[in-house]
Amino acid sequence: MTGARAIRVLDDPESLARFAADWLSDRLTQSAGAPAVALAGGSTPKRLYQLLAEPGYDSRIPWERTHWFWGDERMVPADDPRSNQRMVREALLDPRGIASTLVHAVDTALDVESAASAYDHALRAFHGAGPVTAETPLFTVTLLGLGPDGHTASLFPGTPGLAERDRWTTTAPGGSTLSPNVDRVTLSYPAIAASGDVAFLVAGADKRAMVSRVLAGDPILPASHVTAMGRVWWLLDRAAAPDGLEDVSP
Ligand code: 6PG
Repeated sequence: MTGARAIRVLDDPESLARFAADWLSDRLTQSAGAPAVALAGGSTPKRLYQLLAEPGYDSRIPWERTHWFWGDERMVPADDPRSNQRMVREALLDPRGIASTLVHAVDTALDVESAASAYDHALRAFHGAGPVTAETPLFTVTLLGLGPDGHTASLFPGTPGLAERDRWTTTAPGGSTLSPNVDRVTLSYPAIAASGDVAFLVAGADKRAMVSRVLAGDPILPASHVTAMGRVWWLLDRAAAPDGLEDVSP
């Protein structure tokens, strides 16, 4: 069922990261061919990425054939502290020694529009010319965060990128509402929807009100419009979960 929702509420951020690591590992192990993950940026998923770099996951993921992408990227140098690419490389890819042929980052040396176009081409080259289907998704899994304004990836409220229905990438211009306040390249809604499963990772009491609004389907919030070919999972810690929210199994 497209976009059917599943919910898991974990006790704390560490439990959330460990559940997410096992959840992701299971999906990648079950995938044949070349599994692909679109990684979330920001701070929440960092612990998950660090866990995946630990020895306990040496044989839990097909590291030799799994491809790694980003859900969005800030248009800063790759070694900039604000870079999502830098965060993931330091937490996961470098400790794991992932081959460069399996890593597909946004080229932030380009201007933002050229970077978005190049990333769109890279996604299409990876997936190939065939249709996106449940059996041949663009991403096996897309990981997403949730911002305090209901944004996800770099799909921000009121930005033109929300309307992108054809390309798999779009842009978000720097502006007063962004933190950090820089241009961004992001997956578009169609690209996220071309995922087998999507998982929001959300932790902290400051996100609770927004989680509640998105789960209620508030249409002005970009995260409310995320779908997947399989399921949309909400992996929450107790602090981010609205009162009374219970686990929902797929
Ligand atoms: C980014 C992320 C963004 C992030 C949310 C939540 O580049 O900032 O893609 O969508 O996931 O803003 O960020 P935190 O996990 O830091 O709260």
